[in-house]
Amino acid sequence: MAKVKSKWICQECGYESAGYLGKCPECGSWGSFVEEVQFSTKPQQVSAHDEFINTEKPTLLKDIKFDEEIRVSTNISEFDRILGGGFVQGSLVLIAGDPGIGKSTILLQTSGELCKNNKKVLYVSAEESASQLKLRAERLSINSDNLYVYPQTSMENIKTQIDEISPDFVVIDSIQAIYSQNVASSAGSVSQIRECTNLLMHIAKTKNITVVVIGHVTKEGNIAGPKVLEHMVDTVIYFEGDKYKSYRMLRSMKNRFGNTSEVGIFEMSEGGLKCVTNPNELFLNERSQGSIPGTAIVVANEGTRPLLVEIQALVGTTPYPSPRRVTNGVDTSRVLQILAVLEKRVGLNLSKQDVYVNVMGGLDVTEPSADLGIALAVATCARDVVVDSQTVIIGEIGLSGEIHPVNNIEKRLNEAVMSGFKKAIIPFSNSVPKDFDKLEIIKVKRLIDAISACVNSSKV
Ligand SMILES: Nc1ncnc2c1ncn2[C@@H]1O[C@H](COP(=O)(O)OP(=O)(O)OP(=O)(O)O)[C@@H](O)[C@H]1O
Ligand SMILES: [Mg+2]
Repeated sequence: MAKVKSKWICQECGYESAGYLGKCPECGSWGSFVEEVQFSTKPQQVSAHDEFINTEKPTLLKDIKFDEEIRVSTNISEFDRILGGGFVQGSLVLIAGDPGIGKSTILLQTSGELCKNNKKVLYVSAEESASQLKLRAERLSINSDNLYVYPQTSMENIKTQIDEISPDFVVIDSIQAIYSQNVASSAGSVSQIRECTNLLMHIAKTKNITVVVIGHVTKEGNIAGPKVLEHMVDTVIYFEGDKYKSYRMLRSMKNRFGNTSEVGIFEMSEGGLKCVTNPNELFLNERSQGSIPGTAIVVANEGTRPLLVEIQALVGTTPYPSPRRVTNGVDTSRVLQILAVLEKRVGLNLSKQDVYVNVMGGLDVTEPSADLGIALAVATCARDVVVDSQTVIIGEIGLSGEIHPVNNIEKRLNEAVMSGFKKAIIPFSNSVPKDFDKLEIIKVKRLIDAISACVNSSKV
């Protein structure tokens, strides 16, 4: 193959340039450009798109035969939950997460379960040898006649084996470790990831094989490779969790066949990842004993399930010229906004105070309904009063200090009842059925009303 030209490609976002650039004009990252060589001769392999274009013709919508969506259960309830009931046959699924979080473990376990359902699985291990995989399989007690393990990094060889074995499922561990001969750059480069994903998508769609791809994440927590990777696949799932604790969370970020923002919760044990069927018990086990200033229980709706988590805040005089704001599990800019509202609308002076906000249990709370809980944790810590430990706090805060209603209030309240709570502070405009007497409900219009409610009932 003759060299004709080379391109410089940003490895963060895939931006292309004719020459080297120190800073990417697209994503702003520094030193991310890598030279990738382009060849003049067209590779023998027909690109996935060409094949689609040559064989497919437009069809009238009314003439399209409706194939019933075929879902295959993984037999792992929490995994099924985030997939929307199981894998849709012929879909391309991306699972990304930090190193060592358990990506290979969950997919080997899933492969074992699929084999129990008489599905043929090809597990392509591009990072580990067959014996390393066997060792993990032994630990997870996976033993199946239908599970093929293939330590391979060449995309072309993988394709040949898929044609030969005709599996129902293919696992690629990982997309950053495989390469295609069609592209000159090394494995893991933007061009390689794009080409290999394109080929895998083609295999999934034309052969009706479900392909699950493992992806690495960058140190910022984004999926390594071009952004287009997330657009190409049908489902994007993030594997999160505190590496120092035993539980892990699978979070669906994109799903063409199901609900997004769904969370599956697992516990890592020697025998692999086990589903946590009652996560509230797990999160609330970690909460502080008794009522302590600076803690509040919120009911965050993650996906279709309300989760009760404790928010902890610590407020103290700063030794620094500008006070520190440190958050863990909540968006820092959201916390800054809440602090601004507390200063302006409640008159709480935090300008000389460091503020630390932490979500217990390693969960990331992304929902605005946790605003009021965060504000009360900070305010009660600053004023040294307590939120009663039997109370849950629900509400979104507006910039003028008003409390906005939240969705699914009844579901959240029922979950609080089930976890043994006695009282709830909720937005005024949220309606609760008249006969709902399982909790004492305090409705608040403004942030200051919620703080007053806590101060009045405080025993400190
Ligand atoms: N004997 C064991 N007992 C309990 N947990 C274990 C044991 N062996 C491994 N683990 C857990 O499994 C994790 C490694 O899982 P796995 O190899 O699936 O991660 P990964 O996400 O695929 O990592 P990588 O990105 O390196 O491929 C370890 O971090 C550890 O928590
Ligand atoms: Mg792995």
